Amino acid sequence: MTTILIVDDEEGIRSQLTLAMEDLYQIITAATPDEALAQAREQRPQVILLDIALSPYSGSQEGLEILPQLLEIDPRVKVIMVTGNDERQNALTAVGAGAFDFYVKPINLDELKVIVKRAVYLRKLEIENGEMASALKQHKSFPNIIGTSSKMQKVFKIVETVAPTPYTVLISGESGTGKELIAKAIHGRSDRADKPFITINCGAIPETLLESELFGHEKGAFTDAVAQKVGRFELADKGTLFLDEIGELSLALQVKLLRFLQDRIIERVGGKTVIPLDVRVIAATNRSLVVEVETKRFREDLYYRLSVIALDLPPLREREDDVIVIANFLLNLYGNENAKTNLSFNPSALQRIRSYDWPGNIRELENRIKRAVILSGSHRLTPEDLGFERTSGTEQKSLLQVREEAESSHIRAALARNNWNVSKAARDLGTSRTTLYDLLEKYKIIKDK
Ligand SMILES: Nc1ncnc2c1ncn2[C@@H]1O[C@H](COP(=O)(O)OP(=O)(O)OP(=O)(O)O)[C@@H](O)[C@H]1O
Ligand SMILES: [Mg+2]
Repeated sequence: MTTILIVDDEEGIRSQLTLAMEDLYQIITAATPDEALAQAREQRPQVILLDIALSPYSGSQEGLEILPQLLEIDPRVKVIMVTGNDERQNALTAVGAGAFDFYVKPINLDELKVIVKRAVYLRKLEIENGEMASALKQHKSFPNIIGTSSKMQKVFKIVETVAPTPYTVLISGESGTGKELIAKAIHGRSDRADKPFITINCGAIPETLLESELFGHEKGAFTDAVAQKVGRFELADKGTLFLDEIGELSLALQVKLLRFLQDRIIERVGGKTVIPLDVRVIAATNRSLVVEVETKRFREDLYYRLSVIALDLPPLREREDDVIVIANFLLNLYGNENAKTNLSFNPSALQRIRSYDWPGNIRELENRIKRAVILSGSHRLTPEDLGFERTSGTEQKSLLQVREEAESSHIRAALARNNWNVSKAARDLGTSRTTLYDLLEKYKIIKDK
């Protein structure tokens, strides 16, 4: 529970304020500077209401004088200076010296409660933003994969268990969820760690070239085969081969891959001999291979061979508070890279990070933070720095606005799911490509990578 310290020499004010707030917060009080400092040290209040004068003598500034000491005890404490009208200038000085806000007597309880509430809220956000978040149990063995949510802790456990085995692993997850990062972690924790980790993106290479990319070819195997070529399988011998976007593999190549997984041999294109290899395969997909199997685009037998160990990475929006921790981790990382230290998110930025549904997952978070670090002129990043449009939490939205926002984020999600393939996304959304292109134009949606 939030603890609030009320420092005032007037007993009447102390009890009035206590009464007004004691069912919301735990209230402690102090009448003198010494008492105030002792309470601050022992009880660690999150918010302090501090009377500027703190003594019946006019001209006293005892409250103001202990402000630096209170902030030294806890730099994050939110101090609200309470002042008489004639002390307004002192109140401003206090804010300059690190007080959170000030309030001019006579006290209107409803107003003061709002200020206190804001202070409590801000303090809470700052804690989530900083120390507490990083003190959460980040898995020590995976320093570069941030995840304190229960879902990620499970992922780490599976990775630890399967890494030392020779089993094939199939990693599935939406775009940007960290599939490649996890694949590398598995390799790095296996006894193949000092052997090659070779990756190939099956969706990025034209089908005609993919076969010789994977398996290599002999000289003269086809018109352009002017020399012998060693494929990625052979390059990965004794190590790990990461087959990204495995769902894009043609049926013909699926047969060749199946053969390797069954017999641990390959044949170069145009080759006459079989080559035995010791390669661990890790595959990744951002679409459901089960659906691909049902629609006969993916061989069922290959699916079972690949998914000996199936690891499903949850989307970022299902990882509890991870998003805040990862955001801070990345802010630090890119801050350091760009020689900008002491960067932080302002409270509304944190709120947006928390409430946004991250269709592009960590990749999108990373891109938004990178851009903000480079472009922002200030240390406190705002939602606009992160590329979010300006909205205040209390703002009333029109129906049209709500509809448009929903439409735009729905489209983004469909694109992310389909790896930014517009035809596929259009099919998913039950609309035509032309309409979708118009909408991309309207909402200024561009692929961020
Ligand atoms: N838990 C995490 N903690 C910190 N950084 C992460 C985490 N997960 C992913 N990243 C970072 O996010 C980026 C995207 O991760 P990665 O490339 O592994 O995702 P992916 O699922 O393969 O994405 P895509 O579908 O776009 O290929 C990388 O820069 C990676 O380092
Ligand atoms: Mg990837």
